[in-house]
Amino acid sequence: MNSNKGFIFDLDGVIVDTANYHFLAWRKLANNLGFDITEAQNEKLKGVSRVRSLEQILEWGNVSLSQDEFMEQMALKNDNYLTYISTMDSTAILPGVSRAIDHLVENNIPVALGSASKNARSILERTGLYHKFNTVVDGNDVNKAKPNPEVFLIAASKLKVEPSNCVVFEDSQAGVKAANTANMISIGIGDKKVLGEAQHVFPNFDEIDTEFINKLLKV
Ligand code: BG6
Ligand code: MG
Repeated sequence: MNSNKGFIFDLDGVIVDTANYHFLAWRKLANNLGFDITEAQNEKLKGVSRVRSLEQILEWGNVSLSQDEFMEQMALKNDNYLTYISTMDSTAILPGVSRAIDHLVENNIPVALGSASKNARSILERTGLYHKFNTVVDGNDVNKAKPNPEVFLIAASKLKVEPSNCVVFEDSQAGVKAANTANMISIGIGDKKVLGEAQHVFPNFDEIDTEFINKLLKV
């Protein structure tokens, strides 16, 4: 198939349901510090880097920590999160995701990962998806967290595809904003009420059929 398009996938909440594990781990951290966070607040944390997430949570809880305590809490959260993902394998890939990725790969369409997570590579390896991506850009490669478009712009440049020819799959408000700012086609995965700024929204990947992907290739 001849196309000048590139596809960029977010990881957490798009490829695997780790968004919920991040929430559980942040919630535990907040509870240990004496307050709670809601699912609505968690929407604001999706796509956001580990450091920025903790800053935001502490602000909500009106808690201030020394630099050392901050680092300690961040490490605790990550340890807790890692226990959730320690048993993850290919069965954790969300329905419809492999079909979409395989369709792109089979048609030689460049595919990238664009994630804020520093655990992204390990999750891709665990789920057996790593080798399918032409490039992986994650939290170790960027300085500016989503909604800054840096992660997607680096991915586009590594794929050698113009940003305006890139399609981004995102489950977070921050990520949709980042894709829009990068002048990319944003596809929200989740609730339309939450991801209203995306150009298209689907409740999950299973609802995205091959025909829709083929249409995107021709836009
Ligand atoms: C994003 C998640 O993909 O990665 C956020 O949506 C998470 O919830 C961020 O905080 C950073 O992830 P990690 O694995 O580096 O702590
Ligand atoms: Mg996400």
